[in-house]
Amino acid sequence: LNNNFSTTTPNNNSIQNITVYGSGLMGAGIVQVAAQNGFKVTMVDIEQAFIEKGKKIIDASLSRIAKKQFKDDENSQKSFIETTWSNIKTETNSEKGAENTDLIIEAIVENLETKQNLFKKLDKISKPNTIFASNTSSLPISEISKITERQDKFAGLHFFNPVPQMKLVEIIKNDQTSEDTYQKLVDVTKRMKKTPVTCKDTPGFIVNRLLVPYLMEAVRLAERGEATTEDIDTAMKLGAGMPMGPFELSDFVGLDTLKSIVDGWRKDGKIDAGLVAPIKKLDDLVKEGKLGRKSGAGFYTY
Ligand code: CAA
Ligand code: NAD
Repeated sequence: LNNNFSTTTPNNNSIQNITVYGSGLMGAGIVQVAAQNGFKVTMVDIEQAFIEKGKKIIDASLSRIAKKQFKDDENSQKSFIETTWSNIKTETNSEKGAENTDLIIEAIVENLETKQNLFKKLDKISKPNTIFASNTSSLPISEISKITERQDKFAGLHFFNPVPQMKLVEIIKNDQTSEDTYQKLVDVTKRMKKTPVTCKDTPGFIVNRLLVPYLMEAVRLAERGEATTEDIDTAMKLGAGMPMGPFELSDFVGLDTLKSIVDGWRKDGKIDAGLVAPIKKLDDLVKEGKLGRKSGAGFYTY
């Protein structure tokens, strides 16, 4: 006789349908990778113009991958691209996007209130067993999830830019994330052909907690006039084996994103103050609208 009522659900209800909110740099990448690996994906944004931008990001990346994977075989290239697109739907009505989905991945702007508002709305209309995940770079998962009544079905699912190329996904458990939710997210990550790592709900999780202070130290080093931007980039590429130098990478991530991470951590007070002290150069560039590659200029001009 088995009196042991398990709280975990069997694997026959694994995730098939995914809805991604946000069709920007990260959202489009997540949609693409999920669709490429056989998930049915709905891409949601607030306006059709943003959806079109997301589609362009996916198009460019898919043709790059198709050319690489299928060399001169144009038919296979075409069929790979068509099959991937056949798994993607788009939607500008956020309520509709949440219908019948197994997993919601939020990749909208990095603003706590905006994310909470979205999840609050989705919590009311989604199926009770839909799992919610946020791709936030720096906001505490517990702060975003507390607005919902499904904190056991809530976690961080943090992808890296460029999503199709970067193999890592950080899975962030908060105190209430259930083992069943966690295991389903591990399964989804692996089915997307990514490697999962797990981290507690702490500032920056693993990668950004180490990467962002390093990027900021590079800016301080240049600001003190100890080396040029170009030489620091060359040094870290050739001397430390980084694919991009810290200024190239900062421009790639987005200077507004970096500033909002550092400003958020400073307010939060959990990280050593020296690591998150304001940097005039960074603040000035953001004020001038020089946000990195996406705006045509940052530390470098594109
Ligand atoms: N889609 C598909 N494929 C892509 C791609 C994309 N968007 N971007 C690059 N690739 C592929 C290229 O096709 C190419 O493939 P092959 O080598 O097999 O031909 C390969 O990636 C390399 O591309 P490139 O030759 O064009 O350029 P590169 O060698 O400079 O590599 C890069 C580009 C992969 C971005 C590399 O420079 C890199 O790894 N940079 C560091 C990126 C990084 O650290 N990202 C994390 C940022 S932090 C973050 O995301 C977290 C956060 O919360 C802020
Ligand atoms: P982005 O600005 O390129 O895209 C955000 C998209 O969200 C925009 O298209 C916007 O219209 C849309 N949006 C805003 N409110 C919405 C709503 N209520 N519903 C649906 N869509 C909405 O931003 P991004 O760089 O893709 O970043 C998205 C998230 O991913 C952020 O939380 C960011 O911190 C995180 N992140 C960014 C990076 C990076 O390198 N840029 C890396 C990892 C994680």
